[in-house]
Amino acid sequence: MDNQLAQSYAWLNRLTIIIMAVMLVIGFGILGIYWQRSADPYAYQVLTLDGDPQNGLAIFQINCAGCHNLQVERSVGPRLENISKRKSSRNIITQVTSGRTPPMPKFQPSKKEMADLLSYLNTL
Ligand code: HEC
Repeated sequence: MDNQLAQSYAWLNRLTIIIMAVMLVIGFGILGIYWQRSADPYAYQVLTLDGDPQNGLAIFQINCAGCHNLQVERSVGPRLENISKRKSSRNIITQVTSGRTPPMPKFQPSKKEMADLLSYLNTL
């Protein structure tokens, strides 16, 4: 009888540990999502949108092609072929919106425009 009781306690203990572990994982998951949203809501929302590469091409030609000329070997900015393999989407968004690497200016595209631009850059 005592032995049985001890066994069921051990089982209860194990169950408690499992439940606590699951709750911890869920808690950190929610915290992670919340942190991502609040750390950079602009990038987070851009990444939830479906970009239109056709529109992205138009935006690129107006704003970027002057420096990032895909035909010319040497222009002001580097060539952007395979950029999506070299830089993460988040880093590309930062590159475009931060103005941290002069002479590249700081751009302020709407979220939709940024998503379009990103989807075009992904085709290069
Ligand atoms: C005035 C010229 C200029 C314009 C306009 C410009 N860029 Fe740039 N861009 C640069 C230069 C210069 C660099 C290199 C900066 C560095 O890393 O020091 C660069 C770097 C980049 C990079 C990083 C390239 C790499 O290999 O890591 C990306 C991505 C980029 N530009 C995208 C854009 C997009 C998209 C636009 C249009 C919205 C744009 N640029 C407009 C000059 C420009």
